[in-house]
Amino acid sequence: MSHSGDCFLVPGPVRMNDACLQAMATPVMTARGPEFRQVMAGLNSGLRYAFNLSPSSSEMKHQSWTGEDGYKVVVVSGSGTAAMEMVIANRFRQNDLVLVPTNGKFGERVAQICEQFCNVKHLKYEWGRSFDLYELEQQLERKCYEAVLICHNETSTGITQDAAAIAEMCARHETSFILDGITSVGGMPVHPAEWKAEAVVMGAQKCTAGPSGIAAVAVSPHCVERMNAIHAQNDTNPRYYLDMMAALKKGDDDQTPWTPAINLAMGWSAALGILKEETNEERWNRCEHLAKGVRNLFSDLGFVLLADEGQRSNTVTAIMYPEGIDDSWRSALKDKYHTQVIGAQDHLKGKMFRVGSMGETPVEEMVEGCIRMLACFAEFGAELQEVDVRSYFQ
Ligand SMILES: Cc1ncc(COP(=O)(O)O)c(C=O)c1O
Repeated sequence: MSHSGDCFLVPGPVRMNDACLQAMATPVMTARGPEFRQVMAGLNSGLRYAFNLSPSSSEMKHQSWTGEDGYKVVVVSGSGTAAMEMVIANRFRQNDLVLVPTNGKFGERVAQICEQFCNVKHLKYEWGRSFDLYELEQQLERKCYEAVLICHNETSTGITQDAAAIAEMCARHETSFILDGITSVGGMPVHPAEWKAEAVVMGAQKCTAGPSGIAAVAVSPHCVERMNAIHAQNDTNPRYYLDMMAALKKGDDDQTPWTPAINLAMGWSAALGILKEETNEERWNRCEHLAKGVRNLFSDLGFVLLADEGQRSNTVTAIMYPEGIDDSWRSALKDKYHTQVIGAQDHLKGKMFRVGSMGETPVEEMVEGCIRMLACFAEFGAELQEVDVRSYFQ
């Protein structure tokens, strides 16, 4: 089997399947009636699966948003950044101090959001370099941090943090642990309960192949407790639309405080149904298989991968351009080869491209996309040895 047509290999938004697109074309329904509450119940239950939490009923009035592990899932009308801001604004007081190690654009964004709502110690590592866990440990020994926040899978640089090690450290130092899981949840193993994570955020348009503009948070009982306490003490940061208390109040009833993104919720629920059919494990494996193939292929051809070896992401691979090639290659790839990958951000702009391996991308599409990338590199004068691309994905 081979792939024909466009290759869409960006690290989100990813292609949506027909079930998702059809669900979004459902005629309008009211935001408060039983029809939409049933949609929410299905979505909540699908989210619990994607978050790798204990199962819940997908029927309304059956507490679809929670389960045995005590975590609750909260749907946010807005992209992943809104969900991240919701967690941070509600969970911290202005005097709290949080630790944010970063090695790319999205981690830095986590630090920037925190700066709006509390005090931040920003441990800024070079883009693509692993965190120095010894330095993190030393920081935590100071016992002054309310929480550690990380971008679990750094989409800008293609590095995945060692979340299990950081979680263990946080537990030992009794420090809360919060993850931006926007390009990890659904694409690689994430274990909120095992890691005792207080909150994990995901965006629909990434690994779960849902629509853009809707996101979700999984919050632990301790997180809810802390947010309640801060609220009760009248010590909250300013927020209104992103008031977690309002969301938690409505969640029990399969509802949201404001008019929800109704059609996006329907689409996401359908996409999560496809994930459940595939299973988390199979999707994680497929993403790993795709990313491994890309990593090995480009490394063998002499390309430099940005991220430190051993922590390279399974949902996005960041590859440096060879000498003399820049983003005009990407334009040609799109226009002549009908294949899209994404460029780099900030200081790496024009120096690197990123290949997404998330969502429902079939192996055949990745194989074809890589063949086209190599053809386009050859057209740009890169001298590459002959390789059997397909063999990297077997
Ligand atoms: C890891 C990560 N965090 C945060 C974001 C921002 O998410 P959104 O654009 O959905 O607000 C992105 C987007 O690419 C991301 O990859």
